[in-house]
Order: sequence, then structure tokens, then C-alpha cells
Amino acid sequence: MTSESLHPLPAPARRTVVAAVGAAGLAVALTACGSGDDSSGSTGSSGASLGKTSDIPEGGGKIFKDEGVVVTQPTAGTFKGFSAKCTHQGCAVSSVADGVIVCPCHKSHFSVEDGSVKQGPATQALPAAEIKVSGDSITLA
Ligand code: FES
Repeated sequence: MTSESLHPLPAPARRTVVAAVGAAGLAVALTACGSGDDSSGSTGSSGASLGKTSDIPEGGGKIFKDEGVVVTQPTAGTFKGFSAKCTHQGCAVSSVADGVIVCPCHKSHFSVEDGSVKQGPATQALPAAEIKVSGDSITLA
């Protein structure tokens, strides 16, 4: 009596390892550092109103996005204008607090007094922007 019982082999649990090669395509936004790319359209807005002196907090400043300008008041009655374009990779600075203008991209800090770098990665000061204060109104010079 030979009863052969064929034991079917259990199907091997094949683990299909799907190598999710989600090639993290880091879109490295190469910005032309250091190449003079100014004066390409945003000039010629002299005379544009930047509001009133009372809008600018003493020891701080205000960012005018449309004009690409930051106006600060380092000390009472003294107003300064700077480019709002970070000298690191060209982001627009986003806030002014505690005596510094802050870039949101990599957290560079610039002095409200002269635009100088207080904290990197930026290495160059924010360039000055010509502003004019007449009475209590501020305009681009
Ligand atoms: S672009 Fe401003 S800190 Fe990098």
C-alpha cells in the first residue's frame, strides 16, 4: 500500500521589493550669483509713494514689495532705503525686527542702519535705495 501524498510545495512568498527609486530630483535653482543683473525693468519708479513716516517703526522698518524696497528708521527721524532683494540668492526679504532685515530663504540678517550683513549666508550688504522724505511722506527718489 503505497499511497503517495504529494505535498505541494508552498508557494514561496516572493517579496517583490519595488525599489522606489524616487530620484529626488533636486531642482537646483542655479542663480547667477554675482553677475550684474540689475536694471532690468524695475527702475524708473522714482517718485512712487512709500507711505508716511509714521508707517515706519522706529528701530525697525517696512518692506514695500511692489517697489522692491525696504524703508527703515534706525533712529527717530532718520530714514533709510535699501533694496529688498537679498544679496545671497535674490529672495525678497520678508520681515524687519530687532534691528535687522530678515531674508526668509536662508535667514540672512541685514542691519536696518546700513544694510550690512549681520548674519549669513549672505556676504554682501543690501544696496541702498534712494528715498526722499518730504514732510511726513516718503517717496522713491
Ligand atoms: S536668498 Fe536670502 S539668505 Fe539666501
